[in-house]
Amino acid sequence: MTIETHVIDPLKTKADILAIGLFAVEDRKKIVLTGCAKAADRMLDGALLTILKDEHFVGKLGEAAVTQPHGRLAFKRIVVIGLGPKNKYNANVVREVSAAIIKRAKQLKAKSVTLAPLPIFAGNMAGRRAIGEAIAEGAELASYQFTHYFGLKRQKEKEETVVQQLLLANATKSEAAALAVGVIDGQRTANGVMLARHQINTPAADMTPQHLVEAAQKIVAENKRMKLEVFDEQEMARRGMGAILAVAKGSVVAPAFIHLTYKPATSGRKARKVFVVGKGITFDSGGLSLKPTKHMDGMHGDMAGAAVVLGVFSALEALQPKVEVHGLIAAAENMPSGSAVKVHDIVRALNGTTIEIMNTDAEGRLVLADALSFAVKQKADMIVDIATLTGSVIEALGPDIAGVFSNDAKLVQALKEAAEVSGERLWEMPLVAEYDQFIKGRFADIKNAGTGIGAGSITGALFLQHFVDSIPWAHLDIAGPFWQSREMNSYSPIGATGYGVRLVLQWIKGLR
Ligand code: BES
Ligand code: ZN
Ligand code: ZN
Repeated sequence: MTIETHVIDPLKTKADILAIGLFAVEDRKKIVLTGCAKAADRMLDGALLTILKDEHFVGKLGEAAVTQPHGRLAFKRIVVIGLGPKNKYNANVVREVSAAIIKRAKQLKAKSVTLAPLPIFAGNMAGRRAIGEAIAEGAELASYQFTHYFGLKRQKEKEETVVQQLLLANATKSEAAALAVGVIDGQRTANGVMLARHQINTPAADMTPQHLVEAAQKIVAENKRMKLEVFDEQEMARRGMGAILAVAKGSVVAPAFIHLTYKPATSGRKARKVFVVGKGITFDSGGLSLKPTKHMDGMHGDMAGAAVVLGVFSALEALQPKVEVHGLIAAAENMPSGSAVKVHDIVRALNGTTIEIMNTDAEGRLVLADALSFAVKQKADMIVDIATLTGSVIEALGPDIAGVFSNDAKLVQALKEAAEVSGERLWEMPLVAEYDQFIKGRFADIKNAGTGIGAGSITGALFLQHFVDSIPWAHLDIAGPFWQSREMNSYSPIGATGYGVRLVLQWIKGLR
């Protein structure tokens, strides 16, 4: 979608749709039109206000009323959209409003939209920039559709509902300039989210560890300050990454260990090393501890953490982070076969810890064990891992919220603040030290699953903690929000959400 910002009266533009935002009112009789809405209403002899009253429009967030200007303005339709209550107005609201407009435009098969200026918040220019970013994110993400595997006919049908142009009309040059800067940031972030969505939605046959390697190569080729290292099976064996190799050995598809590095331009002091680590299970059948059919659905998306790492890296360089950012992806397929790892096998992870395999379906923590150990060996200053790790976190927090576990209060605080801005929901879960006894090994140091004691997302996190030493670390369990079977908002369609890309980018932006 092209998003342009112009210094122009919105009523003087030409588009399929003119969209105007209105704050909520307590009583529909209290609706007062101001600015662009008022001017439009005047040109329509009061028809705009009439339809709002007739339709009992009260300006709830995302509520829409549609009217036709019948040739008096150069639009096919005017869409008035609710901004919700004035005291709750922020960037998350703007993202939702922008997405709701595009959704409505798609339904109306509109190709072009003019958006009248939205109210600003948080200071003039910074506020404009934030609005531009939120508008672009909402509009782009609401346009996303996974149509890659549609046949010609369905592909064509979908093309009819693509909004091609969004025009942001503005009063002054400086407003337009600030908005435009925000728009570029927002589009870049949205592209990262959509890259992740695409990879997660892609079936396992077409999204193997090798495909993740190729995606990483492409990103590195497009960014000057990045480099890439990939370990194959032999290299992993040579280094002693016994845990990921155990997971991979049941599959005919080869595993890969991917290490992306972004280095900031040299500043005075040495930049801190931040590691973002993603679980990259390209299909989780459960292995010999085979999942029942119902639970296997969606397991092509068990590489969502890896997709977040790639989405983040695709948008990273333009942000000019001050820190050195490393992206690690532990990619493998978890399959049952004659060569698969067995229950009661004992494996040795990269940091020397031995692991008793109680359940081959607890494979995410195994591949992460090696990746986290690797980050420690690389002298990480901070580690954040992202993984579709446990079904238990869905039991605890449901489909919309990720759990965060951490050994560092400041890190959690920073992640929570980033999530607040990005509009992705995050809830801190406890690393209950006493529960570590539930994963103490009988014949090895630890075991990969606690048996029948509940708290599965906590024991999963405690397992990972064995591989981070005392480095500040946070683990995001995104098993709930990586996928949606309903629309949780206007910019997250059914299927992969790309949860985590915006959050991690926002977090990195704040690091010094
Ligand atoms: N990939 C799954 C977790 C999952 C479940 C992600 C549902 C997304 C949606 C993970 O590998 C798994 O199977 N975890 C087990 C661990 C158990 C065997 C200790 C779980 O949570 O049931
Ligand atoms: Zn599993
Ligand atoms: Zn898994």
